Amino acid sequence: MQINHLGKDHSLIGSFMAELRDVVIQQDKFRFRTNIERLGQILAYEVSKTLTFEPIKVKTPLGEKIVFVPKDKIVIASILRAGLPLHQGILSYFDKAENIFIAAYRKHTEGYDFDIQLDYVSGPSVEQKILILADPMLATASSLVKVYRTLTKETKPLHTHIVSVISAVQGIRLLENELKGENVSVWTCAIDEELDQKSYIVPGLGDAGDLAFGEKL
Ligand code: PRP
Ligand code: URA
Repeated sequence: MQINHLGKDHSLIGSFMAELRDVVIQQDKFRFRTNIERLGQILAYEVSKTLTFEPIKVKTPLGEKIVFVPKDKIVIASILRAGLPLHQGILSYFDKAENIFIAAYRKHTEGYDFDIQLDYVSGPSVEQKILILADPMLATASSLVKVYRTLTKETKPLHTHIVSVISAVQGIRLLENELKGENVSVWTCAIDEELDQKSYIVPGLGDAGDLAFGEKL
């Protein structure tokens, strides 16, 4: 599995990540969502370099030009709620993409243990398409593995790009083990070392869903 760590080289990603992680600046919900959206655009641009392209002839006011444009069918799938601003950023670049929305959450069993409860999947088939699976926080990665298995149970995408803002080392390891041999790449803006007792990423940024949309009950 190819892991693309976009934050390892210095770029504008650093400015957006600094604001997302900053305990004061991140309180501005509009700015928080906007920064995630901007990272979604950068991630979409990077993923676009892996697509297949075809030439089209464009008529300009002064002549004609052959331009190469992506040929693949793209489906963007996101996990509610925190996935929404990332989804919006990716969709603003892949503006003809189809869309899948998934409701998944951590259902606590005993103490800090939890299962991933998947309530709702809405969207088209992923068969022979490029699937972009977007979730800003890849902590244990159990949500992503469950969603990937559900979406690809009966239909197979050409390739799956897992796109995240912050990934934990543990989550990446789980993906490498669980999705070994699958046609999957990971794109992330940062890799953090630890998870806390509640399986939150440390230092991470906190609860991405709450920071984007407010606390939930
Ligand atoms: C976050 C995030 C992922 C999940 C990651 O959602 O958006 O879906 O946690 O955890 P995992 O890698 O351990 O599976 P959250 O629980 O904050 O829900 P919310 O978006 O509804 O607030
Ligand atoms: N979900 C979040 O929002 N943040 C984390 O660090 C882990 C899961």
